[in-house]
Amino acid sequence: MSPSILAPSETEQHQQVSAQLLHWIDQFKDAASQGKCADYIPALGKMNPHQLGVTVIGTDGTMITAGDCEAPFTLQSISKVLSLVAVCMEYGIPHVLQRVDAEPTGDAFNSIIRLEMSKPGRPYNPMINAGAITVSSMLAGDSVTQKMDSLNKLFIQLIGTAPVLNEEVFQSEWNTAHRNRALAYYLKDIGFLDGDVESALEVYLKQCALEVTTKDTALIGLILALDGYHPIRQEQVLPKDVARFTKSLMLTCGMYNASGKFAAFVGVPTKSGVSGGILSAVPPRYRSRDLPFADGCGIGIFSPSIDEVGNSVAGSLLLKEMAQQWDLSIF
Ligand code: DON
Repeated sequence: MSPSILAPSETEQHQQVSAQLLHWIDQFKDAASQGKCADYIPALGKMNPHQLGVTVIGTDGTMITAGDCEAPFTLQSISKVLSLVAVCMEYGIPHVLQRVDAEPTGDAFNSIIRLEMSKPGRPYNPMINAGAITVSSMLAGDSVTQKMDSLNKLFIQLIGTAPVLNEEVFQSEWNTAHRNRALAYYLKDIGFLDGDVESALEVYLKQCALEVTTKDTALIGLILALDGYHPIRQEQVLPKDVARFTKSLMLTCGMYNASGKFAAFVGVPTKSGVSGGILSAVPPRYRSRDLPFADGCGIGIFSPSIDEVGNSVAGSLLLKEMAQQWDLSIF
């Protein structure tokens, strides 16, 4: 198959993979009842919790999908990966590290506690809300529109298009974002938020409300897996150091206070969002050459029912099964 197009694969191994994914979807979709949709954002509470879809894209551009792979969902915290990449490309990693650290917290994603406990209060990492709001305030541009444009430019590099903003989800979260607003004002007070507070919050909540499908997140995962190389466009679209820095933060902080166990039992750099999206970057592997996707892949999963930590219940089970059966762990 030509590597320049994304198309469903026809080979025998890929047909087996496809059947396998369908089987696992069947096996795990009922697990959604163990969690619930993120109704602290009222619009997300209205999602159908029983959706489960997956896309896997290999380095040759072959794409294997199953279930609700084309159901649109908002990026939520997965957007933290993109905003981090954008500011690192704009200012370089050392400058970004002066504004937000790269240490896991073990706290909830929206926790406020460490900002006051450590001095000067630099947010611990860009995958928790505090760090992500700081990062959003750093995006290139002087206005909300310009900052969103700079993020959209990155999306165009990666997936060829700028995602649509889900206005309903944005408004719903904007109206109820009391904790994020508190975080943003506190960050301003201690000198870790650039510019106007409400504008930074607007950028952060708008990036969270950008709408994608698992096909988009799988492609972003694939590019990260390949250290910034876009195998379809055959072009280095992200600097290697930025891709690696981002993946290390996904692995250590991407699943919040479940990141340790996720590294131990799944072992793949991954970022989740409260709308039930999961993005994974699976690097090439030199053992298990006979198993699927030995050259690496990107995985996008969506299932909106989440656990108490904020990770998709059925989606996490599906990813864990894929990682174990296909030996995807980087360890
Ligand atoms: O700021 C929030 O609370 C949401 N917009 C995003 C949080 C999120 O996705 C955490 N993920 N698991």
